[in-house]
Amino acid sequence: MIKIIQGDITTLAVDAIVNAANQVMLGGGGVDGAIHRAAGHELYEACLTMPEVRPGVRCPTGEARITPGFRLPAKFVIHTVGPVYRDGQHGEPEKLAACYRNSLALAAENGCHSIAFPCISTGIYGYPKEEAAAIAVSEVQAFLSPAESAEDAEGEGRAPSRPLMEIIFCCFLERDKRVYENLIGKSA
Ligand code: APR
Repeated sequence: MIKIIQGDITTLAVDAIVNAANQVMLGGGGVDGAIHRAAGHELYEACLTMPEVRPGVRCPTGEARITPGFRLPAKFVIHTVGPVYRDGQHGEPEKLAACYRNSLALAAENGCHSIAFPCISTGIYGYPKEEAAAIAVSEVQAFLSPAESAEDAEGEGRAPSRPLMEIIFCCFLERDKRVYENLIGKSA
């Protein structure tokens, strides 16, 4: 199920909130700064122990890493690194799509039944809001509509092919919320 809300993602008591991080994964501005401030210093320590895949890179663009949420109401933080937008011709759409796909996969692997996303890459990284939202919605809808719906499987006594998951688009700004509502209608 998909929900669209306007608010501060650090206040959400969900299984996982997604952080729009950078490749160093030690905090920053925007939602990254807000999440680190709210989670406390233990989050920084947990990120510091995340192995570098190459010097100065703990999470390559498009990938995702999971840590506890510490002082956040959320159980986990899933850190993902969106692409810096140039002109949309340098793999930015594919990388942004991978952020959503990999974050959802990591949430499912960790038994999450609720996850909240910020509008990844649309702040400091400059991704146009409408294009980014269309990619986000497309990836989330693909994740939620497996070959066989979970309801059908459960109806016939089989384990659902995917865990039931509530997916929240948490927009900090009213105009971002409107972008998502125009794409998928008013949230339930
Ligand atoms: N809750 C929800 N959304 C938020 C919050 C918050 N508390 N604070 C900011 N946002 C929104 C912004 O309004 C924007 O829509 O998060 C979205 C992503 O913006 P940024 O945080 O700037 O992230 P991004 O564009 O992906 O740039 C990432 O910024 O903070 C640094 O370390 C980070 O280098 C990385 C870069």
